[in-house]
Amino acid sequence: MKLFLDTAIVDEVREAASWGILGGVTTNPTLVMKSGRKFKEVVIEICNLVDGPVSAEVTSEKAEDMMKEAREFVTWHENIVVKFPMTEEGMKAVSQASKEGIKSNVTLVFTPNQALVAARAGATMVSPFVGRLDDIKEDGMQVVREIVEIFCIYEIETKVLAASIRHPEHVRQAALAGADYCTMPFSVMKELFKHPLTDAGLKKFAEDWAKAKK
Ligand code: G3P
Repeated sequence: MKLFLDTAIVDEVREAASWGILGGVTTNPTLVMKSGRKFKEVVIEICNLVDGPVSAEVTSEKAEDMMKEAREFVTWHENIVVKFPMTEEGMKAVSQASKEGIKSNVTLVFTPNQALVAARAGATMVSPFVGRLDDIKEDGMQVVREIVEIFCIYEIETKVLAASIRHPEHVRQAALAGADYCTMPFSVMKELFKHPLTDAGLKKFAEDWAKAKK
């Protein structure tokens, strides 16, 4: 499973890229708003830092308007994957994008059936939102497991991107579920490095090294 950042903060992308573990980046309109930056500038800067897919989301409601946005986005950088919403108009656009060779990520997926529809429309990847399902007391990760299983049974090539990730346990479970990608906030990615015994072990090694005869 590749590790993606879910952010529109360029400094976070730069740091994660420096660790050598960054497989891609997802953005959404909320994250862009929080960054306080212009959408196009941010997306291009992120693309220049990442050797992998960078999702940029359309905001139109009609398929033809979504496709106008999509065709423009893909001129910005070769890493761009266009994020389309899980609606009838969105699927019309995904199907057209597929014919035009534009990579797509279907967002706001909450059920295996939605994922199957997106895959049949020609989506490159689908994004089940785990945390938001957990928020309403459903089992978000079970949806990821079922999507992975269905895609496996029918040899569907659409990738599964576990999204709306809230903590490291989600990452572990997504990996065990067989998700292709997992996109997470920077804070969650940093937590993946940590264990109290790693910290305690390092402290002890440093103390003993200070006492050692060199
Ligand atoms: O980018 C899509 C998704 O990861 C959003 O997550 O935390 O807003 O539910 P969240």
